[in-house]
Amino acid sequence: MLMLIFPDYQLQAERLAARLAIPTENVHIHHFPDGESLVRLPPSLPEHVLICRSLNQPNDKLIELLFCARTARQLGAKRLTLIAPYLSYMRQDIANQPGEAVSQRIMGQMLAELFDDVITVDPHLHRINSLDQAIPIKNAISLTAANEVAKFLQKKLDYALLLGPDSESEQWVSAIANKIGFDFAVATKIRRGDKQVEVSLPDFDFSNQPVVIIDDMASTGRTLSKATELLLEAGAQKIDAVITHPLFCGDAEAHILQAGVKNIWSTDSISHSTACIYLDNLLAGAVWDIL
Ligand code: R5P
Repeated sequence: MLMLIFPDYQLQAERLAARLAIPTENVHIHHFPDGESLVRLPPSLPEHVLICRSLNQPNDKLIELLFCARTARQLGAKRLTLIAPYLSYMRQDIANQPGEAVSQRIMGQMLAELFDDVITVDPHLHRINSLDQAIPIKNAISLTAANEVAKFLQKKLDYALLLGPDSESEQWVSAIANKIGFDFAVATKIRRGDKQVEVSLPDFDFSNQPVVIIDDMASTGRTLSKATELLLEAGAQKIDAVITHPLFCGDAEAHILQAGVKNIWSTDSISHSTACIYLDNLLAGAVWDIL
């Protein structure tokens, strides 16, 4: 077995390979001036190859993944396992207007054709319950970081009220709260545009409460900053945030901090300065389970 590592996800992939006690090799990427990617793999590969790369900022990464997987097969890999802690294009699961591409289905089909196993963490699935409905293979494995987040919060804080900023976050916030005996509440959200969100807090006494907002991803940061503003108005004592997938596009992080969040803690599903909750143990367990 061998793990192929990409430069943008090197530290996390090396940590995972060390935990699995397997060797690694780098995938070399060269970007030509016109934006094309040259992908180079080691010239011979074992039968089972693991490819570890998160798929945030996905468009270049997806074409490189396609080249990498097809080349790995030519070089002798019989089994290919993709470990993508963040899996992009999972949100668009219907055509909201006639003619729109249903990216989840198309992406899922592509991954199913390329890989024997796909392992990811807390994919953002709306209308389907299991990842194999999006990626039609037996080993389409969706893990949750709830345990890792719960352990982290338990070490960090004596108590906090956990707040999910929208109904979709309830699954994560309730699981985390129940593991460590913290209370939780869930807000409601209406998204009017990429950077326009309306959040309403639930009927709860937030005064003097330490609050941790829990969300699966932060993209523009508007959901987190809106929830923070409302919590401060409601008298919350201190607000921190835990994010599973720290996409943090553009001014997102600055916006969240400006709104009054004291600490942002994220998992290392994406390389980011806030990443301090490591997923290697969780991912290694999933790899061992499928061997
Ligand atoms: C949406 O349902 C997700 O759980 C996040 O709340 C959302 O993606 C955050 O986006 P943004 O940071 O752009 O508000």
